[in-house]
Order: sequence, then structure tokens, then C-alpha cells
Amino acid sequence: MASYHLQSFIVLVMVTLTLVIPSKAQLSPSFYNKVCPQALPVINSVVRRAILRERRIGASLLRLHFHDCFVNGCDGSVLLDDTRNFIGEKTAFPNNNSIRGFDVVDEIKKAVDKACKRPVVSCADILAIAARDSVAILGGPSLVYKVLLGRRDARTASRAAANSNLPPPTFSLSQLTSNFKSHGLNVRDLVALSGGHTIGFARCTTFRNRAYNETNIDSNFAASLRKQCPRRGGDNNLATLDATTARVDTRYYSALLQKKGLLHSDQELFKGQGSESDKLVKLYSRSSLAFARDFKASMIKMGNLKLLTGRQGEVRRNCRKIN
Ligand code: HEM
Ligand SMILES: *[C@@H]1O[C@H](CO)[C@@H](O)[C@H](O)[C@H]1NC(C)=O
Ligand SMILES: *[C@@H]1O[C@H](CO)[C@@H](O)[C@H](O)[C@H]1NC(C)=O
Repeated sequence: MASYHLQSFIVLVMVTLTLVIPSKAQLSPSFYNKVCPQALPVINSVVRRAILRERRIGASLLRLHFHDCFVNGCDGSVLLDDTRNFIGEKTAFPNNNSIRGFDVVDEIKKAVDKACKRPVVSCADILAIAARDSVAILGGPSLVYKVLLGRRDARTASRAAANSNLPPPTFSLSQLTSNFKSHGLNVRDLVALSGGHTIGFARCTTFRNRAYNETNIDSNFAASLRKQCPRRGGDNNLATLDATTARVDTRYYSALLQKKGLLHSDQELFKGQGSESDKLVKLYSRSSLAFARDFKASMIKMGNLKLLTGRQGEVRRNCRKIN
């Protein structure tokens, strides 16, 4: 009888535990409110200053968060330099000579650790906040969302994972769709998040084939790209991803309707054949409200990918190195 009671007691405890402890710890927008209420305003002011120095840096910070999240989750792994134990992500094909903003992340980290008097804000959270703030500074208050916080930093990084998990600009719609699906993101997320290309630049090497060889492109637009990007040489020449490169707006989508997407992967989202993706591009081109709503929701989803939380990982003291 006693053993029967003990057994049912144990079962009761186990059931209670599984009900109370969520299988995946949740992020919260108020994560730093008690431990360091200055954290978010300090990060915002460093981002604002950096964008005043150079408008493009907002785009670069947004992209860092994306490239962090798509490689083993949003864990700050993209920021790690190579070590004896691993080759980091910085020299992976999509990143090499391409991702930037590491110095601004260092500047944010120094300022926030100083304000908090100790290292409590993770590098992964810094990327999430800096991405949100960049978009809001360049696009206005309708793009502000409550950024969820409490991510922890990885103690490793992987160039191989970056090479295989980040989508290249040569991908077709179906390849983009399955890449996003592998990250738990759907076609709506794909089209909304590709709106990240409303700001920033791409190198000649990423759009040369489109400028010279593709047919699904406006011919005047292709001619102007060929001026910026010679057949040979000039690999690092830059072109703007949309016509209003320092403003988050819906020009990116209206350009796709006119076959003026810069990257092959951009134009794949609109081919005028009535696909779900076509419909979303049309919707966002006419409605900045719909774009803002969906972009914010998808950024939150992307920011939740495969997190380290609680006591997993660490909070780095230097974003470039594990503690
Ligand atoms: C859908 C698949 C995507 C592909 C194939 C792709 C590809 C690219 C490529 C090739 C560049 C130019 C890189 C260079 O020449 O150095 C670029 C730039 C950029 N991407 Fe994406 N991207 C994708 C999705 C995204 C997403 C989801 C975001 C953010 C939400 C994003 C944000 C950016 C930004 C802001 C830039 C400009 C960065 C700068 O000027 O420093 N991209 N992307
Ligand atoms: C990265 O770019 C540098 C400079 O262009 C080049 O020397 C190096 O081989 C590249 N690394 C990889 C892994 O492609
Ligand atoms: C155009 O396509 C051909 C055949 O695929 C390829 O050999 C060539 O390098 C491409 N040209 C450019 C400028 O990318």
C-alpha cells in the first residue's frame, strides 16, 4: 500500500514537472528590465550613432542577425573568430568579404557592459536588438516590435554549417522555400523577410550572371547593372539592393513587379504566374501596413530559431571569443 502511494506520488510529481517546466525556455521582452534597465536605450543610442556615421551599417547589422539565426540558431556564433578548435563562420562563402558590422557590435558590447557594470547582455541578443533598432531607425515607428530577449551565446561556430544553411542568391523559388522550411519558416516568412533587401548593397559577383545572362529582367535595368558590374573584374563593385537603399520601405517589392530585382533570388519571388509568393509581393508592394505587420512577425519568428536559453551556452565578455 505504502509503495502504491509512493508510486502514484512519483507519477504526480513527474506530471506536474512536465506541465510546469516548458520544454523550451521562452524569451521575454522584459528579460533585462530588472538586471539592467539601461541595456536597450544604450544599444539604441550606439546603433543610432553608427547609422549617422554610415547609413549602410543598419543594413549590415540586420544581415548579421539573419546570418546568425540561420546557422545553428540565434546564438551569436557568426561573431566568433577562428580558434584552434573550430573554423568560424566569417569566411564561409556567403560571409567572406561580405558580412560587416563587427566593429559596431564590439562598440555596442563595450557600452552596454559598462552601463550594466557587468557582462549580462548576450551577443546574440545584441544582434537581435541592433537589427530591430536599425530597421526602426531607417523605416519608422510602424516597424518597431517588442524584441524577445534572453538568448545565450554559443561556445562554438561552424564554417561548414554556414556554407550549407545560408541560401545563396542563385537559388530558385523552390530552393528558397525549402531552405526556409528547414528553418521552420514558410513562404510568407520568406517573402516578408526578403524585404530586408529594402536596404543595403550587393557586390557585382552576386548579380553578374543576372545582369548578363537572365531574361526575367527589365532591359534598361540590366544595362545599368552592366555599367556597374563589368564581365570581368570589379567583383566588389556595389549596387543598391533597391532604389531607396537607406530607407526601409516597399520599393523592393514594386521593383520586383517591374523585373528590377537585383539578385536572382529576389526576382524568383515574383514571376507573374500567380503563385503564393507572387501574391505576397503584390500585396507588400501596395500596402506598407501589410509589409510592416508581416515583416515584424517574421523577424520575431526568425529571432526564435533554435535558441540557447537558461543555463545553456554563456554570456560572452567579448563577442569575438568564447569566455
Ligand atoms: C532569401 C534568401 C536570401 C538571399 C539569397 C540573400 C542574399 C544576399 C546577398 C547575395 C547579398 C549581398 C551580399 C554581398 O554582395 O556581399 C545580401 C545582402 C543583404 N541581405 Fe540578404 N539574402 C537573403 C535573405 C535576407 C534576409 C532574410 C535578410 C534580413 C531579414 C537579408 C538582409 C540583407 C541585407 C540587409 C543586405 C545588405 C547588407 C549590407 O549592405 O551590408 N537578406 N543578401
Ligand atoms: C576569403 O577571402 C579572402 C580575401 O579575398 C581570400 O584570400 C580567402 O581565400 C577567402 N576564404 C575562403 C574560405 O574562401
Ligand atoms: C553566362 O552564362 C554562361 C553559360 O552558362 C556562362 O558560361 C557565363 O559565365 C555567364 N556569364 C556571366 C557574365 O556570368
